Amino acid sequence: MRQTDFEKREKGKGGWFGFSVDMGARIVKSLLFWGFAAVLLSSSYTDIRGLQKGAWTGKTREVAEVTSAEQEAASAQNNAKNAAKAEQDSKIAEISKATDTGKRVALTFDDGPHRVYTKELLDGLAQRGVQATFFVIGKNIPGNEELIARMQQDGHLIGNHTYDHVRISDLSGQEACEQVEKTSALVREITGQDTEFVRPPFGAWNKSMEGSFTMIPVMWDVDPLDWTTKNKAVIEKRVLDNVDNGDIILLHDYYASSVEAALNVVDKLQEQGYEFVTVEKLILD
Ligand code: NI
Repeated sequence: MRQTDFEKREKGKGGWFGFSVDMGARIVKSLLFWGFAAVLLSSSYTDIRGLQKGAWTGKTREVAEVTSAEQEAASAQNNAKNAAKAEQDSKIAEISKATDTGKRVALTFDDGPHRVYTKELLDGLAQRGVQATFFVIGKNIPGNEELIARMQQDGHLIGNHTYDHVRISDLSGQEACEQVEKTSALVREITGQDTEFVRPPFGAWNKSMEGSFTMIPVMWDVDPLDWTTKNKAVIEKRVLDNVDNGDIILLHDYYASSVEAALNVVDKLQEQGYEFVTVEKLILD
């Protein structure tokens, strides 16, 4: 019984001790657990922050990249604009510089008006701010009156190329006079003005006729023989190879190739600083 009590006490002692050890172990375990948990939590918190930070930085970088790409595009666009403007300015300066030196030529067109090609030519010349001279054939005027009216409106000079496109030098003085007068009358009906300049077909002019007309004969300096070819590049080259300051250029607004070549010639000569004037301006100024 004593033993039992002793045992009980011992047990009790041992129990208390055991209990204490047990509690200590639990506390240590608990501390270890929570410590470990804390480490885990804190590390995962860092990871989350890291991820968030990474994501945020990535997004920022993305935004920054887009912004800088936009800025680059905008600045490239600006540069291109500035370059184009500078080029245009230098082109204008070049043209005005050359114009200051007085390089002038007169484009002349014979044998019209032509319902299609003369209209195309008038459109092209208007776009380029160019004035030319049209030596019209009287018999081509009926039905094309609006083209004659437009020539005047656009500041072109309307000259006379006879009524039937005849060789004046083969005619009597009176017949020659009729050829010119008939055409002038048709032009006058539309524009209110007589023709003052005449281009004799085939260049056949007879000095003895000058007393017969109060008109000024106009020949030419550059003749690309545009009516002999349909190749506009050939016509263009023939003009550009031979043109000089003060020249009168002979073309025909009666062929598609001639009209296209004429407009190309205008573009090229304007780049070289040539000014285009009417025959009247070229002769009288
Ligand atoms: Ni002719």
